This record gives sequence, C-alpha cells and structure tokens, in this order.
Amino acid sequence: MADRPLRSTKSYGKLDRDGFIHRSWIKATGLPDHVFDGRPVIGICNTWSELVTCQAGLRDLAGFVKRGVWEAGGVPIEFPAMSLPETQMRPTAMLFRNLLSMEVEESIRANPIDGVVLLGGCDKTTPGQLMGAASVDLPTMVVSSGPMLNGKFQGKDIGSGTDVWRFSEAVRAGEMTLADFMRAESGMSRSSGVCNTMGTASTMASLVEALGLSLPMNAALPSVDSRRKVLAHMTGARMVGLVKQDVRLSQIATREAFENAILLHAAIGGSTNAVVHLLALAGRVGVPLSLEDFDRIGREAPLLVNLMPSGKYLMEDFCYAGGVPAVMRELGERLRRDALTVAGLTQGEIADAAEVWNRDVIGALDTPIGPSSGVWVLQGNLCPQGAILKPSAATPDLLTHRGKAVVFETIEDYHARIDDPDLAVDATSVLVLKGCGPKGYPGMPEVGNMGLPRKLLAQGVIDMVRISDARMSGTAYGTVILHVAPEAEEGGVLALVRDGDEISFDGPNRRLDLLVEPDELARRRADWEASRAASPYVRGWYRLYIDTVLQADRGVDLDFLVGRSSADVSRESH
Ligand code: FES
Repeated sequence: MADRPLRSTKSYGKLDRDGFIHRSWIKATGLPDHVFDGRPVIGICNTWSELVTCQAGLRDLAGFVKRGVWEAGGVPIEFPAMSLPETQMRPTAMLFRNLLSMEVEESIRANPIDGVVLLGGCDKTTPGQLMGAASVDLPTMVVSSGPMLNGKFQGKDIGSGTDVWRFSEAVRAGEMTLADFMRAESGMSRSSGVCNTMGTASTMASLVEALGLSLPMNAALPSVDSRRKVLAHMTGARMVGLVKQDVRLSQIATREAFENAILLHAAIGGSTNAVVHLLALAGRVGVPLSLEDFDRIGREAPLLVNLMPSGKYLMEDFCYAGGVPAVMRELGERLRRDALTVAGLTQGEIADAAEVWNRDVIGALDTPIGPSSGVWVLQGNLCPQGAILKPSAATPDLLTHRGKAVVFETIEDYHARIDDPDLAVDATSVLVLKGCGPKGYPGMPEVGNMGLPRKLLAQGVIDMVRISDARMSGTAYGTVILHVAPEAEEGGVLALVRDGDEISFDGPNRRLDLLVEPDELARRRADWEASRAASPYVRGWYRLYIDTVLQADRGVDLDFLVGRSSADVSRESH
C-alpha cells in the first residue's frame, strides 16, 4: 500500500457510481479486485508503431516494464501516443513534436495514473514525450528503444545517416556506383533500434541520462541486447518507488541537471537538434535556460567520445566502452555531481561506479578525442536572436570565412538550381537557404546540410559554409550554420540576403554578419513586405502551429504550451 492517498485512488478508490464505472471497465483487461487497494498505477506511454522501426523493440520492452511494476507492487497500464518516424513523415517529423507533447500531456493528466514510464526513441519522440510529461509533472522515467547494431558494408562498419550523406555525395561526384549505393542501403539498418551514430536519437537518450531521468546505460545498450530488457524491468520496479516517494520530474530536471546535459552534449559531440529540444523542455519545467548557456557550459568539456558524425565509431562500440556513465566519470569535477537521478543516486555516485573499457572510443580529459565541441552560438546582424554551429563536425579552415552569398529562396529553388553548370558559385561562396524555419517550411526540417554543387564536388571540394533557418540531421556534418533566428518567414534579415552579398563568419568570435548597408536593408525590407504572399495553410494543425510556434532560440515550442499545469482534474466524467 502507498503511504498516502494516490492520484489514482480518486478514481479507483471510490465506492460509488463513479468508482464502479472507473473500475468495471478497466477490469475488462483482466485486473482482479485486490489490485484496487490503493497501490500505485503506473502508466506506460508507448510510441511504438510499425512506422518506426527505430522503436520496433518497444512493444517487447513494455512487457518488461510491466514485470517490474508488478514485482514492486504497482499496477501497470500501457497506453499509446503518436509515433513520429523521422524517416517517413513529411514534411518533417519536427512539425509534430509539439503535437505529440500535447497528446502525452493530456493523456497523463486525464487518466488515473500516479507515475509514467515514457517509451520512445526516434528523434522527436523523446523530447515530445518529455515535454508533455513535464507539463503535468508526475514522477517520470524514460526507457529508450536503444541503438541498432553497427551497419555493415563491404567488410566495414557504416553509420546511420552519416554514411548516407557521404555516399550520396560520392555518387554525385562520380566516385561511387549506384549499385554500390543500393547495396549499402541494405547493410545500414540491420536490426531494430535508433540510428547507430551519435545522431539526435542517441544524443537525446544520452541527455536523458544526464538529466537524471533514466537508469544508467539507457542510451547505449543496443536495442537487441538482453540487458535492455533488464533495464526496462528495473525501471518498472523503480517507478513504483518514485511514486511512493512522490519524486516529481521537476525535482530531477533542475538547473543543475540541464547543465549536466549541456556538458555531456559537448563531450559526446551531440546533435545540434538537442539545443531546441532542451530549450523547449526547460521551458516546460520552468528552468531558466538560454542559447548562450550551450556555448558557455559547452566550453567546459572537450570532445570525449569518438563516434560518428564527429568521430569514427558507433553506438554499439560506445556501449561496450562504458556508455554515458563512463563519460560522466571522465568529466570529473566539471560534472554537477550532486544532481539527483531517478535511480536514487546522485550523478556523482553513478559516475564513480563507472569505468572506461576502450580508450579509442572514450577519451580522457587530458587526452581527449578533440577540442571543445559544444555548439557555438553566433550573434550578428544576420541572426539577431542567434544561430548555431557544431564545430566538431565542421572544417577547421572554414570556421573563419568571408564569401559571397549564393541564395536559394526555397528548398525547391535549391533542388532546381544546385547542379546547374551555370550556377555562379565557387568554393569560397556561402550557400544561403531560406524558408526552412519553424513557420516557413513549416516545421523546421533537417535540410540545413544542403549538398554541394555537383561541379564543385567534381573539383574535389568537400565542404563550404552553408547558412539557413533550418535544422540538420544529428548524423550530418559540415560547416553548417543552422537555426538562424528570426527565420526568413518571420521577416528575419535572412529574408533580405541577395546573391552576391558579402557574408562574414567569424566563428572564434561567434559573429555572423551580412555586410550590407542599413539603408539598403531597409529598402529590401519594404520590398519583402510588399511582396509577401498569403499562407496556403488555413486550417488544422498546420495553422495552429504557424500561428503560435516560437523561434529556435525559444526551443520551437508553441507559445501557449510553455510552462506546466498541475496534474489535478477536479471534475468527474459522468
Ligand atoms: Fe529514427 Fe534515426 S531515424 S532514430
């Protein structure tokens, strides 16, 4: 029995007509009378679907969470939430992250559950579920689906996404046959699980550990590893204890926890997408967090993990080398060691118990894999509300650059002209893409790592400075400046850039400037406003999203979703 009346007791503990209704219908699942004695009811929020192979293992894992809940004296009840398959949804899964968060929030609040285990994994499910859960603020834990096995092609390991970008550029440059390209496709995704690189999915699962919201090793254990089933079982059991102790999500996801997440993000060379997800989550919990925190805190950590896209290895290797706890150990005193976790241990205690088993995969502070690799947060007249760049994925020689803009007004314009032999572009040009921000696309897709012009690839050019209001895949690389805010659709200066304008990028000093006189920019703005077309999106989710979405520096949440409401619902349903 719980030590105090639980939330679920308001539904299942009543000996009246309402209690009859709540119990009778849930008994249809096979629950006996005696489980309605006030024990914790644990919701298992599962985003499994056949559309997301990254999460194919979640159906099984839910069963292991249930075992743990029963073992610890709770009642597990599984419920679905929309799946967001990164590789299947159009125009982009990111358009629906906030919709998932709304579904999760209201499902948790409306149902008689005392705590929730979130089962997700593909890029947007983890942040979407966490944002929703944070706005209710019950005891919450995460079980991620875990990474897929290493990809294999021609006797070598290949990485999800990262090698797709590499191979597709090789085909365009005439260095790889289409037949080999197709063979690689079959060897890349060999099992259930999320992308095997340190892409967005594994970055977010790692940050969940750093936030203290999962048991240790949640991020790295492969999807098919039996130890992930054990982790799911132990999570179910632990969840019952968290409910009894009433340890809420907001007591774990504190400012110190977010600082640990940013620190780990830098150490693992994590996905740039984590920036918008952490900002949005912090907004839900009520923790003050700014874009500048990523640059400042990220500088404290060198690159410690040698994983694609910043390095060489894959998530399976990361698991065998020690995973996130081993990296936390290497961070030493930089870690906010007193931060609490759902495991009942502090981050310092988890780190102390960890070991590094492979120094090629996880480096040490005094012999890191690379220099400080947190995201750079840029300021300047081209991005008054900021822009970001991942230096560990960029070309060092391009981190200070001045060049003339080659502008694409939309992604369709880019596709139509990028391989035009007559395109006025050379290796010093700066590719500028507009119309790919939260409102503009809509949904802020992962197109910021736009491919280079074919004629430059043929000359051996492998990287150029690229600027957009888009995001890029966490598996991508290049000197790619992303998340320019305000976006072009919102009337940011990005909308005013024209072919031939000079752009100055000074990475070390965090500057990004359009070298055009203010008078000329004012004239262009008047033209831009006069020529604006009406939005084609007049109804439904798209309309609500476009009307209320915040810019990248605010996490791309909807303005009315920021913050949290209580878990209380006072009125009965009948
Ligand atoms: Fe689902 Fe990468 S596409 S995790």
